[in-house]
Amino acid sequence: METIYRGLNGVNVDTSEICSIDGERGELIYRGYDIRELADNASFEEVVHLLWFGDLPTREQLQALRDGVRPSFHLPAGVLELLAHLPQGTHPMHALRTAVSALAAYDDAPDFVDEKSIRRIGFSLLGQVPAIVAAFQRLQAGLEPVAPDPNLSIAANFLRMVNGEEPTDAAERVMDVALVLHAEHGSNASTFVARSTASSLTDVYSAITAAIGSLKGPLHGGANAGVMKALEEIGSVDGVEPYVLETLESEKGRVMGFGHRVYKVMDPRAIILKDVSEKLAEESGESKWFEMSLEMERVMKREMDARDKQVAPNVDFFSASVYRMLGFEKETYTPIFAVSRIAGWMAHLIEQYADNRLMRPRLVYEGERGKTFVPIDQRG
Ligand code: CMC
Repeated sequence: METIYRGLNGVNVDTSEICSIDGERGELIYRGYDIRELADNASFEEVVHLLWFGDLPTREQLQALRDGVRPSFHLPAGVLELLAHLPQGTHPMHALRTAVSALAAYDDAPDFVDEKSIRRIGFSLLGQVPAIVAAFQRLQAGLEPVAPDPNLSIAANFLRMVNGEEPTDAAERVMDVALVLHAEHGSNASTFVARSTASSLTDVYSAITAAIGSLKGPLHGGANAGVMKALEEIGSVDGVEPYVLETLESEKGRVMGFGHRVYKVMDPRAIILKDVSEKLAEESGESKWFEMSLEMERVMKREMDARDKQVAPNVDFFSASVYRMLGFEKETYTPIFAVSRIAGWMAHLIEQYADNRLMRPRLVYEGERGKTFVPIDQRG
């Protein structure tokens, strides 16, 4: 009897020096630094440097990273044109995946996979992905894309390119914290897809395009939009309990924003985002989304404890209310995840290409055998 690891649960495919997750203790570490330490103190750009170069940058290194990213906020005209021609109502993740795939055609050397080339493409994508997400949102709303401001951080530039005005310091900081929290998470589905795609020694754009496709799914990055969809449908704190009970009773019922393959306790990123959400609710006076989230957390805890299941809020749960209070529509939530996760995907591609082995697992065949070919006009 062959052992089958469905969903690759518990399988170690390689070693890595990028990220450590302790699902029992609720601990997340990027290259030796606890996520709370980074969320409290680091900018997204500092975290990118940490992930790609192994440690936090000096001032000069940080400046070099910013200088490397800056030109790429300007998209090739052909990519903007492509975005403008996509039909009204196209899902922003389809648009992002298509545009990133197209970027390879505008790169003079898209196929090099040495470390220097991967970092060069990484710097480009760090600016291009937020620029694509922002431009597409505006084009779909019938608005002109907004030119980036080269002096702003990635977080601030993204908010500016979406909203057309410079964000407040407070909004920039919240965006930055969200980007730090979503930057990296070990061998999650999309990162595994990126590494697995790269393992055939294809190019970086192919690997990132595949990763974006994976991130879109509702069991992965798509869950943040799923949380807001549920909250919008429920509409009030009173509606939360009946919604949760009904969902849990339905076949394969999943409440979005809860559960995780690795965490058996509350995701440490969710703990941080819960605080951010509470603070934003207090400051903005728009407490409805946070209060509904709290009620959902309460009812889910009671129900999961009663069923003896270790299912707690994950990163997508409180990010939903945070993004709404920052002014984003739910369709932009998963693209924001991609704006940040470029950091982790690229770190893993650097590691994968540096010491590659083709990913080629097996499936246990349970189909038929010994059939005889029947000519087409004798088949009935
Ligand atoms: N709502 C209700 N029950 C749940 C949920 C949930 N969100 N998550 C897990 N369970 C139950 C599940 O029904 C199962 O029960 P049983 O053993 O009786 O069949 C048990 O918990 C274990 O679930 P599983 O599906 O075997 O666990 P998994 O590791 O394969 O799935 C998951 C992990 C993230 C796909 C799952 O928890 C889920 O579907 N969550 C909802 C979607 C979501 O929020 N995804 C975001 C994940 S974190 C960030 C990211 O990756 O983007």
